[in-house]
Amino acid sequence: MNRSLARVTEAVHLACTDEPLCAYIYDLAALDSHAAELAATLPSNCELFYAVKANSDLPILQTLAPYVRGFEVASGGELDWVRRHFPDTPVIFGGPGKLDTELAAALEQDVELLHVESLGELRRLAWLARSTDRQADVLLRINLALGGVPATTLTMGGRATPFGIDSGQLPQCLTWLARHPEIRLHGFHFHLMSHQLDADAHLALLSRYFRQARQWREQFGLTINHLNVGGGIGINYREPERQFDWPAFSAGLTALVESENMQDWRIRFEPGRYLTAACGYYAMQVLDIKQCFGRHFAVGRGGTHHFRTPYAQGHSHPFLVLPREHWPYPFPRPGVEQTEITVVGQLCTPKDVLATDAPVGRLRVGDLLVFPYAGAYAWHISHHDFLRHLHPRHIYLSAQEPVHAANQ
Ligand SMILES: Cc1ncc(COP(=O)(O)O)c(C=O)c1O
Repeated sequence: MNRSLARVTEAVHLACTDEPLCAYIYDLAALDSHAAELAATLPSNCELFYAVKANSDLPILQTLAPYVRGFEVASGGELDWVRRHFPDTPVIFGGPGKLDTELAAALEQDVELLHVESLGELRRLAWLARSTDRQADVLLRINLALGGVPATTLTMGGRATPFGIDSGQLPQCLTWLARHPEIRLHGFHFHLMSHQLDADAHLALLSRYFRQARQWREQFGLTINHLNVGGGIGINYREPERQFDWPAFSAGLTALVESENMQDWRIRFEPGRYLTAACGYYAMQVLDIKQCFGRHFAVGRGGTHHFRTPYAQGHSHPFLVLPREHWPYPFPRPGVEQTEITVVGQLCTPKDVLATDAPVGRLRVGDLLVFPYAGAYAWHISHHDFLRHLHPRHIYLSAQEPVHAANQ
Protein backbone atom coordinates (compact mmCIF):
# COMPACT_ATOMS: atom_id res chain seq x y z
CA MET A 1 0.00 0.00 0.00
CA ASN A 2 1.46 3.42 -0.86
CA ARG A 3 1.93 6.11 1.80
CA SER A 4 -1.03 8.19 0.72
CA LEU A 5 -3.38 5.22 0.76
CA ALA A 6 -2.13 4.22 4.21
CA ARG A 7 -2.85 7.73 5.56
CA VAL A 8 -6.27 7.75 3.92
CA THR A 9 -7.14 4.27 5.22
CA GLU A 10 -6.26 5.36 8.75
CA ALA A 11 -8.35 8.52 8.39
CA VAL A 12 -11.35 6.58 7.04
CA HIS A 13 -11.30 4.19 9.99
CA LEU A 14 -10.97 7.10 12.41
CA ALA A 15 -13.95 8.81 10.77
CA CYS A 16 -16.28 5.82 11.25
CA THR A 17 -19.10 6.20 13.77
CA ASP A 18 -22.37 4.31 14.36
CA GLU A 19 -23.79 6.16 11.37
CA PRO A 20 -22.68 4.64 8.01
CA LEU A 21 -19.81 6.70 6.61
CA CYS A 22 -19.81 8.79 3.49
CA ALA A 23 -16.83 11.10 3.03
CA TYR A 24 -14.34 12.75 0.75
CA ILE A 25 -10.80 12.50 2.02
CA TYR A 26 -8.10 14.70 0.52
CA ASP A 27 -4.44 13.94 1.15
CA LEU A 28 -2.87 17.39 1.11
CA ALA A 29 0.61 15.98 1.76
CA ALA A 30 0.35 13.94 -1.45
CA LEU A 31 -0.98 16.99 -3.30
CA ASP A 32 1.92 19.06 -1.98
CA SER A 33 4.58 16.68 -3.26
CA HIS A 34 2.84 16.10 -6.60
CA ALA A 35 2.57 19.85 -7.27
CA ALA A 36 6.18 20.36 -6.15
CA GLU A 37 7.36 17.74 -8.64
CA LEU A 38 5.40 19.23 -11.52
CA ALA A 39 6.59 22.76 -10.82
CA ALA A 40 10.23 21.68 -10.42
CA THR A 41 10.41 19.69 -13.64
CA LEU A 42 8.92 22.18 -16.10
CA PRO A 43 11.39 24.05 -18.34
CA SER A 44 12.29 27.51 -17.03
CA ASN A 45 10.09 29.44 -19.51
CA CYS A 46 7.02 27.34 -18.64
CA GLU A 47 4.56 28.44 -15.97
CA LEU A 48 2.02 26.43 -14.04
CA PHE A 49 -1.49 27.77 -13.39
CA TYR A 50 -4.21 25.64 -11.78
CA ALA A 51 -7.64 25.36 -13.43
CA VAL A 52 -9.73 26.00 -10.33
CA LYS A 53 -12.86 24.41 -11.84
CA ALA A 54 -11.42 20.95 -11.14
CA ASN A 55 -11.63 21.48 -7.37
CA SER A 56 -11.84 24.93 -5.81
CA ASP A 57 -11.83 23.90 -2.13
CA LEU A 58 -9.78 26.32 -0.09
CA PRO A 59 -7.36 23.75 1.45
CA ILE A 60 -6.64 22.51 -2.09
CA LEU A 61 -5.90 26.01 -3.37
CA GLN A 62 -3.82 26.82 -0.28
CA THR A 63 -1.72 23.69 -0.81
CA LEU A 64 -1.18 24.47 -4.48
CA ALA A 65 -0.51 28.20 -4.10
CA PRO A 66 3.25 27.94 -3.34
CA TYR A 67 3.84 25.85 -6.47
CA VAL A 68 1.73 27.54 -9.10
CA ARG A 69 2.27 30.95 -10.61
CA GLY A 70 -1.45 31.55 -10.33
CA PHE A 71 -5.00 30.34 -10.80
CA GLU A 72 -7.12 30.02 -13.93
CA VAL A 73 -10.76 30.91 -13.30
CA ALA A 74 -13.72 30.36 -15.61
CA SER A 75 -16.51 32.36 -13.95
CA GLY A 76 -17.15 35.45 -11.87
CA GLY A 77 -17.82 33.16 -8.92
CA GLU A 78 -14.39 31.53 -9.20
CA LEU A 79 -12.80 34.95 -9.67
CA ASP A 80 -14.42 36.29 -6.48
CA TRP A 81 -13.50 33.14 -4.54
CA VAL A 82 -9.85 33.23 -5.60
CA ARG A 83 -9.49 36.99 -5.15
CA ARG A 84 -11.08 36.84 -1.67
CA HIS A 85 -8.54 34.28 -0.47
CA PHE A 86 -5.51 35.10 -2.62
CA PRO A 87 -5.63 38.85 -3.25
CA ASP A 88 -2.09 39.00 -4.66
CA THR A 89 -1.91 35.80 -6.70
CA PRO A 90 -1.99 36.20 -10.50
CA VAL A 91 -5.32 35.19 -12.00
CA ILE A 92 -6.17 34.43 -15.61
CA PHE A 93 -9.78 34.23 -16.79
CA GLY A 94 -11.07 31.98 -19.58
CA GLY A 95 -14.20 30.15 -20.59
CA PRO A 96 -17.21 30.69 -22.83
CA GLY A 97 -20.20 32.96 -22.20
CA LYS A 98 -18.61 35.62 -20.00
CA LEU A 99 -21.11 38.19 -18.72
CA ASP A 100 -20.45 41.93 -18.97
CA THR A 101 -20.36 41.96 -15.17
CA GLU A 102 -17.69 39.25 -15.21
CA LEU A 103 -15.60 41.06 -17.81
CA ALA A 104 -15.92 44.29 -15.81
CA ALA A 105 -14.91 42.47 -12.61
CA ALA A 106 -11.89 41.01 -14.41
CA LEU A 107 -10.79 44.49 -15.45
CA GLU A 108 -11.38 45.91 -12.00
CA GLN A 109 -9.65 43.06 -10.19
CA ASP A 110 -6.52 43.20 -12.36
CA VAL A 111 -6.88 39.81 -13.94
CA GLU A 112 -3.52 39.29 -15.61
CA LEU A 113 -4.88 37.97 -18.90
CA LEU A 114 -8.37 37.39 -20.25
CA HIS A 115 -8.75 34.54 -22.72
CA VAL A 116 -11.18 35.82 -25.31
CA GLU A 117 -13.52 33.37 -27.01
CA SER A 118 -15.00 35.36 -29.92
CA LEU A 119 -14.99 38.64 -31.80
CA GLY A 120 -18.27 39.47 -30.06
CA GLU A 121 -16.58 39.05 -26.68
CA LEU A 122 -13.67 41.22 -27.84
CA ARG A 123 -16.11 43.97 -28.84
CA ARG A 124 -17.90 43.88 -25.49
CA LEU A 125 -14.58 43.89 -23.63
CA ALA A 126 -13.32 46.90 -25.62
CA TRP A 127 -16.57 48.76 -24.95
CA LEU A 128 -16.29 48.04 -21.20
CA ALA A 129 -12.58 48.95 -21.13
CA ARG A 130 -13.25 52.29 -22.87
CA SER A 131 -16.14 53.12 -20.57
CA THR A 132 -13.92 52.61 -17.49
CA ASP A 133 -10.82 54.13 -19.07
CA ARG A 134 -8.80 50.93 -18.78
CA GLN A 135 -6.83 48.64 -21.02
CA ALA A 136 -7.49 44.93 -21.25
CA ASP A 137 -4.70 42.35 -21.67
CA VAL A 138 -5.80 39.32 -23.64
CA LEU A 139 -4.94 36.06 -25.32
CA LEU A 140 -7.10 34.88 -28.20
CA ARG A 141 -8.37 31.35 -27.62
CA ILE A 142 -8.20 29.67 -31.01
CA ASN A 143 -9.80 26.47 -32.22
CA LEU A 144 -7.24 24.85 -34.54
CA ALA A 145 -7.55 22.00 -37.01
CA LEU A 146 -5.69 19.13 -35.36
CA GLY A 147 -3.90 17.78 -38.43
CA GLY A 148 -3.05 14.19 -37.56
CA VAL A 149 -2.90 14.56 -33.77
CA PRO A 150 -5.02 11.77 -32.24
CA ALA A 151 -8.12 12.99 -30.40
CA THR A 152 -9.10 11.91 -26.85
CA THR A 153 -12.51 11.16 -25.35
CA LEU A 154 -12.99 14.85 -24.45
CA THR A 155 -12.11 17.05 -27.39
CA MET A 156 -12.88 20.78 -27.33
CA GLY A 157 -11.34 21.71 -30.66
CA GLY A 158 -10.14 20.58 -34.05
CA ARG A 159 -13.80 20.42 -35.12
CA ALA A 160 -17.02 22.40 -34.68
CA THR A 161 -17.33 23.27 -30.97
CA PRO A 162 -18.47 26.39 -29.10
CA PHE A 163 -14.96 26.90 -27.70
CA GLY A 164 -12.55 29.52 -28.97
CA ILE A 165 -12.31 31.38 -32.26
CA ASP A 166 -12.21 29.47 -35.55
CA SER A 167 -8.67 29.96 -36.84
CA GLY A 168 -10.16 31.20 -40.15
CA GLN A 169 -11.49 34.24 -38.28
CA LEU A 170 -8.09 35.21 -36.87
CA PRO A 171 -7.21 37.75 -39.63
CA GLN A 172 -10.52 39.55 -39.02
CA CYS A 173 -9.87 39.66 -35.25
CA LEU A 174 -6.34 40.99 -35.78
CA THR A 175 -7.55 43.71 -38.16
CA TRP A 176 -10.14 44.71 -35.58
CA LEU A 177 -7.55 44.66 -32.76
CA ALA A 178 -5.23 46.96 -34.75
CA ARG A 179 -7.93 49.64 -34.47
CA HIS A 180 -8.59 49.09 -30.76
CA PRO A 181 -5.60 50.02 -28.59
CA GLU A 182 -7.71 49.53 -25.45
CA ILE A 183 -7.12 45.79 -26.00
CA ARG A 184 -3.53 44.58 -25.83
CA LEU A 185 -2.90 41.22 -27.45
CA HIS A 186 -0.21 39.13 -25.72
CA GLY A 187 -0.59 35.84 -27.57
CA PHE A 188 -2.71 32.75 -28.08
CA HIS A 189 -4.51 30.17 -26.03
CA PHE A 190 -5.13 26.61 -27.16
CA HIS A 191 -7.02 24.02 -25.13
CA LEU A 192 -8.15 21.44 -27.62
CA MET A 193 -8.60 18.34 -25.51
CA SER A 194 -8.73 16.84 -22.04
CA HIS A 195 -8.11 13.22 -20.94
CA GLN A 196 -4.73 13.01 -22.62
CA LEU A 197 -3.07 9.85 -21.29
CA ASP A 198 -0.19 9.56 -23.73
CA ALA A 199 2.89 11.73 -23.11
CA ASP A 200 4.13 11.42 -26.71
CA ALA A 201 0.74 12.39 -28.14
CA HIS A 202 0.65 15.42 -25.83
CA LEU A 203 4.12 16.47 -26.96
CA ALA A 204 2.98 16.10 -30.58
CA LEU A 205 0.00 18.36 -29.83
CA LEU A 206 2.25 20.96 -28.16
CA SER A 207 4.61 20.89 -31.10
CA ARG A 208 1.68 21.82 -33.36
CA TYR A 209 0.74 24.64 -30.97
CA PHE A 210 4.32 25.94 -30.94
CA ARG A 211 4.64 25.95 -34.73
CA GLN A 212 1.27 27.59 -35.20
CA ALA A 213 1.95 30.35 -32.68
CA ARG A 214 5.36 31.10 -34.19
CA GLN A 215 3.97 31.08 -37.70
CA TRP A 216 1.17 33.55 -36.86
CA ARG A 217 3.59 35.81 -35.00
CA GLU A 218 5.73 36.06 -38.15
CA GLN A 219 2.89 36.11 -40.69
CA PHE A 220 0.99 38.94 -38.97
CA GLY A 221 4.03 40.79 -37.54
CA LEU A 222 2.74 40.51 -33.98
CA THR A 223 4.68 41.57 -30.90
CA ILE A 224 3.50 38.75 -28.68
CA ASN A 225 5.27 36.20 -26.48
CA HIS A 226 2.53 34.39 -24.48
CA LEU A 227 1.28 30.95 -25.33
CA ASN A 228 -1.20 29.20 -23.08
CA VAL A 229 -1.35 25.50 -23.95
CA GLY A 230 -4.33 24.77 -21.70
CA GLY A 231 -4.72 21.76 -19.45
CA GLY A 232 -5.82 18.35 -20.59
CA ILE A 233 -3.44 15.81 -19.06
CA GLY A 234 -5.63 12.90 -18.10
CA ILE A 235 -6.05 10.33 -15.37
CA ASN A 236 -6.33 6.71 -16.37
CA TYR A 237 -9.39 5.61 -14.39
CA ARG A 238 -9.76 2.37 -16.34
CA GLU A 239 -6.17 1.17 -15.87
CA PRO A 240 -4.96 3.07 -12.80
CA GLU A 241 -1.54 1.41 -12.88
CA ARG A 242 -0.88 3.03 -16.30
CA GLN A 243 -0.84 6.78 -15.70
CA PHE A 244 0.48 9.64 -17.84
CA ASP A 245 4.27 9.47 -17.88
CA TRP A 246 5.16 12.88 -16.44
CA PRO A 247 8.95 12.34 -16.26
CA ALA A 248 9.02 11.41 -19.97
CA PHE A 249 6.74 14.35 -20.77
CA SER A 250 8.77 16.97 -18.90
CA ALA A 251 12.04 15.69 -20.39
CA GLY A 252 10.46 15.70 -23.87
CA LEU A 253 9.11 19.20 -23.30
CA THR A 254 12.53 20.58 -22.42
CA ALA A 255 13.87 19.14 -25.67
CA LEU A 256 10.84 20.39 -27.63
CA VAL A 257 11.14 23.96 -26.36
CA GLU A 258 14.71 23.98 -27.69
CA SER A 259 14.13 22.17 -30.95
CA GLU A 260 11.11 24.37 -31.77
CA ASN A 261 12.96 27.53 -30.79
CA MET A 262 10.39 28.53 -28.19
CA GLN A 263 12.82 29.91 -25.57
CA ASP A 264 11.59 33.50 -25.99
CA TRP A 265 7.94 32.55 -25.33
CA ARG A 266 6.21 32.38 -21.95
CA ILE A 267 4.46 29.04 -22.13
CA ARG A 268 1.62 28.49 -19.69
CA PHE A 269 0.01 25.28 -18.58
CA GLU A 270 -3.36 25.35 -16.82
CA PRO A 271 -4.07 21.75 -15.79
CA GLY A 272 -6.94 20.84 -13.51
CA ARG A 273 -7.49 17.09 -13.37
CA TYR A 274 -3.84 16.07 -13.44
CA LEU A 275 -2.98 18.29 -10.48
CA THR A 276 -5.73 17.34 -8.05
CA ALA A 277 -7.44 14.07 -9.05
CA ALA A 278 -4.99 11.78 -7.28
CA CYS A 279 -5.13 13.50 -3.89
CA GLY A 280 -8.87 12.82 -3.43
CA TYR A 281 -10.74 9.70 -2.29
CA TYR A 282 -14.47 9.10 -1.97
CA ALA A 283 -15.41 6.62 0.75
CA MET A 284 -18.81 4.99 1.21
CA GLN A 285 -19.95 2.34 3.65
CA VAL A 286 -21.96 -0.57 2.26
CA LEU A 287 -25.63 -0.43 3.36
CA ASP A 288 -26.99 -3.44 1.52
CA ILE A 289 -25.91 -6.29 -0.73
CA LYS A 290 -28.38 -8.10 -2.92
CA GLN A 291 -28.76 -10.28 -5.96
CA CYS A 292 -31.08 -9.46 -8.83
CA PHE A 293 -31.48 -11.25 -12.18
CA GLY A 294 -28.20 -13.05 -11.48
CA ARG A 295 -26.11 -9.94 -10.69
CA HIS A 296 -24.79 -8.77 -7.34
CA PHE A 297 -25.34 -5.18 -6.23
CA ALA A 298 -23.77 -3.32 -3.31
CA VAL A 299 -25.69 -0.23 -2.24
CA GLY A 300 -23.38 2.30 -0.61
CA ARG A 301 -24.09 5.39 1.42
CA GLY A 302 -23.85 8.26 -1.07
CA GLY A 303 -23.75 7.92 -4.85
CA THR A 304 -23.38 9.89 -8.05
CA HIS A 305 -24.99 12.97 -6.46
CA HIS A 306 -21.67 13.21 -4.54
CA PHE A 307 -19.34 11.51 -6.94
CA ARG A 308 -20.52 11.94 -10.50
CA THR A 309 -17.13 11.26 -12.10
CA PRO A 310 -17.79 7.63 -13.19
CA TYR A 311 -21.13 8.56 -14.76
CA ALA A 312 -19.74 11.72 -16.37
CA GLN A 313 -16.80 9.85 -17.90
CA GLY A 314 -18.70 6.63 -18.63
CA HIS A 315 -16.31 4.35 -16.77
CA SER A 316 -16.46 1.81 -13.97
CA HIS A 317 -14.48 3.50 -11.22
CA PRO A 318 -11.75 1.47 -9.48
CA PHE A 319 -12.18 0.99 -5.72
CA LEU A 320 -10.72 -0.94 -2.84
CA VAL A 321 -12.49 -2.63 0.03
CA LEU A 322 -11.61 -1.77 3.63
CA PRO A 323 -13.10 -4.44 5.90
CA ARG A 324 -14.90 -3.26 9.10
CA GLU A 325 -15.51 -5.84 11.76
CA HIS A 326 -18.28 -4.01 13.64
CA TRP A 327 -21.70 -5.68 13.12
CA PRO A 328 -24.37 -4.50 15.61
CA TYR A 329 -27.36 -6.60 14.48
CA PRO A 330 -28.60 -9.91 16.01
CA PHE A 331 -28.78 -11.63 12.58
CA PRO A 332 -26.18 -12.83 10.07
CA ARG A 333 -24.18 -10.31 8.12
CA PRO A 334 -24.94 -10.30 4.36
CA GLY A 335 -21.90 -10.56 2.10
CA VAL A 336 -20.40 -12.06 -1.03
CA GLU A 337 -17.09 -13.74 -1.83
CA GLN A 338 -15.06 -14.14 -5.02
CA THR A 339 -17.63 -12.58 -7.28
CA GLU A 340 -18.36 -9.55 -9.41
CA ILE A 341 -20.38 -6.73 -7.97
CA THR A 342 -21.97 -3.54 -9.22
CA VAL A 343 -21.67 -0.62 -6.79
CA VAL A 344 -24.59 1.78 -6.70
CA GLY A 345 -25.66 4.68 -4.51
CA GLN A 346 -28.84 5.76 -2.77
CA LEU A 347 -30.55 7.52 -5.66
CA CYS A 348 -33.78 6.34 -7.27
CA THR A 349 -32.27 6.12 -10.73
CA PRO A 350 -30.57 3.24 -12.56
CA LYS A 351 -27.87 5.74 -13.56
CA ASP A 352 -26.57 5.93 -10.01
CA VAL A 353 -23.74 3.47 -10.70
CA LEU A 354 -20.14 3.93 -9.56
CA ALA A 355 -18.63 0.60 -10.61
CA THR A 356 -19.96 -2.20 -12.82
CA ASP A 357 -19.32 -5.93 -12.36
CA ALA A 358 -16.10 -5.29 -10.46
CA PRO A 359 -14.32 -8.34 -9.01
CA VAL A 360 -14.20 -8.52 -5.19
CA GLY A 361 -12.57 -11.10 -2.90
CA ARG A 362 -15.02 -10.49 -0.09
CA LEU A 363 -17.52 -7.72 0.57
CA ARG A 364 -19.95 -7.48 3.45
CA VAL A 365 -22.57 -4.97 4.52
CA GLY A 366 -20.74 -2.50 6.78
CA ASP A 367 -17.43 -2.72 4.88
CA LEU A 368 -16.02 0.44 3.35
CA LEU A 369 -15.45 1.14 -0.33
CA VAL A 370 -12.77 3.69 -1.17
CA PHE A 371 -12.66 5.21 -4.66
CA PRO A 372 -9.30 6.85 -5.53
CA TYR A 373 -8.74 9.63 -8.11
CA ALA A 374 -11.68 11.56 -6.69
CA GLY A 375 -9.93 14.90 -6.16
CA ALA A 376 -10.92 16.56 -9.46
CA TYR A 377 -14.27 16.97 -11.25
CA ALA A 378 -15.84 14.85 -8.53
CA TRP A 379 -17.74 16.66 -5.74
CA HIS A 380 -17.63 19.88 -7.80
CA ILE A 381 -19.45 18.43 -10.82
CA SER A 382 -22.08 16.52 -8.81
CA HIS A 383 -25.77 17.32 -8.32
CA HIS A 384 -25.51 17.51 -4.50
CA ASP A 385 -29.09 18.21 -3.61
CA PHE A 386 -30.85 15.59 -5.65
CA LEU A 387 -33.00 13.70 -3.09
CA ARG A 388 -31.68 15.97 -0.33
CA HIS A 389 -29.44 13.33 1.18
CA LEU A 390 -26.93 14.72 3.65
CA HIS A 391 -23.71 15.86 2.08
CA PRO A 392 -20.60 13.73 2.66
CA ARG A 393 -17.98 14.78 5.17
CA HIS A 394 -14.94 16.53 3.69
CA ILE A 395 -11.74 15.57 5.45
CA TYR A 396 -8.45 17.25 4.61
CA LEU A 397 -5.33 15.44 5.77
CA SER A 398 -2.93 18.26 6.42
CA ALA A 399 0.52 18.28 4.87
CA GLN A 400 2.06 19.26 8.23
CA GLU A 401 0.29 17.06 10.76
CA PRO A 402 -0.03 13.29 11.16
CA VAL A 403 -3.49 11.77 10.63
CA HIS A 404 -5.67 12.37 13.67
CA ALA A 405 -9.37 12.52 14.44
CA ALA A 406 -10.93 13.69 11.21
CA ASN A 407 -11.53 17.38 10.70
CA GLN A 408 -14.42 18.56 8.60
C1 LIG B 1 -9.84 26.34 -21.10
C2 LIG B 1 -9.55 25.23 -20.17
N1 LIG B 1 -8.37 25.20 -19.54
C3 LIG B 1 -8.05 24.20 -18.67
C4 LIG B 1 -8.95 23.19 -18.39
C5 LIG B 1 -8.56 22.11 -17.43
O1 LIG B 1 -8.55 20.91 -18.11
P1 LIG B 1 -8.03 19.57 -17.41
O2 LIG B 1 -8.73 19.47 -16.11
O3 LIG B 1 -8.36 18.51 -18.38
O4 LIG B 1 -6.54 19.74 -17.22
C6 LIG B 1 -10.20 23.19 -19.04
C7 LIG B 1 -11.17 22.13 -18.75
O5 LIG B 1 -12.26 22.07 -19.25
C8 LIG B 1 -10.50 24.22 -19.95
O6 LIG B 1 -11.68 24.26 -20.59
